[in-house]
Amino acid sequence: MTNIILLGPPGAGKGTQARQLVESRGMVQLSTGDMLREAQAAGSEMGKKVAEVIARGELVTDDIVIGLIREKIAEGAEGGFIFDGFPRTLGQADALGELLAEMGLTLDAVIEMAVDDGALVARITGRSTCGGCGEVYHDQTKPWPADGKCGNCGSSDVKRRADDNEESLKTRLMEYYKKTSPLLGYYYAKGDLRSVDGLQAMEAVAADIAAVLEA
Ligand code: AP5
Repeated sequence: MTNIILLGPPGAGKGTQARQLVESRGMVQLSTGDMLREAQAAGSEMGKKVAEVIARGELVTDDIVIGLIREKIAEGAEGGFIFDGFPRTLGQADALGELLAEMGLTLDAVIEMAVDDGALVARITGRSTCGGCGEVYHDQTKPWPADGKCGNCGSSDVKRRADDNEESLKTRLMEYYKKTSPLLGYYYAKGDLRSVDGLQAMEAVAADIAAVLEA
């Protein structure tokens, strides 16, 4: 059982790589972004509370996301967890360490997906997601099949996120550099940090992640 964190700015490719690991290794993807969007879509009180914060590109409070992760970790995962978009603050990182210890689990690697900001605008503004299965597409690098149906599940429900615009991306990047990038030093000091070049083609990034997991 392997538990990892995928760490990187918005558009680094965390979700894309997490989905591959779910398929290839039977791991469980825990994306706090997906959980928050599901809460929004379900119209829960919490979902309504966070909707504007997410659309602006700011982080929601630690207590909300730690609560979501606590519930999911308690469900267990035979193939291990991929933490995607969590932790994002030092408080969340401390909380994750405590939650894993309570469950008798360890963190095996924190994989930084290194990219430069210039690539992120194009990645974010070109992204769409399948409403049926969550498959991630991109207008240039991974366009929808010509028949308009998802290659994975056949749905034609193309979704674009409310925060996938240049204005929100600026805020999301600022939040990343102020609150999340200190985690690189935090995990480096613990000896957990590994880095892959996230600017490569998706298959090459996946191969580098696989090499980290096999090391
Ligand atoms: P979240 O949903 O986590 O978004 P994010 O971190 O901004 O990351 P993204 O999902 O935008 O990018 P990604 O790295 O997964 O890239 P992807 O694989 O899709 O969070 C959204 C919001 O929720 C936050 O702003 C915050 O408000 C809130 N939130 C969530 N978690 C929180 C937390 N822990 N604490 C507080 N608030 C929280 O790829 C992007 C595009 O690029 C796709 O189109 C893809 O096809 C393409 N692509 C991917 N890899 C490649 C490649 N190698 N080459 C070319 N194109 C590629």
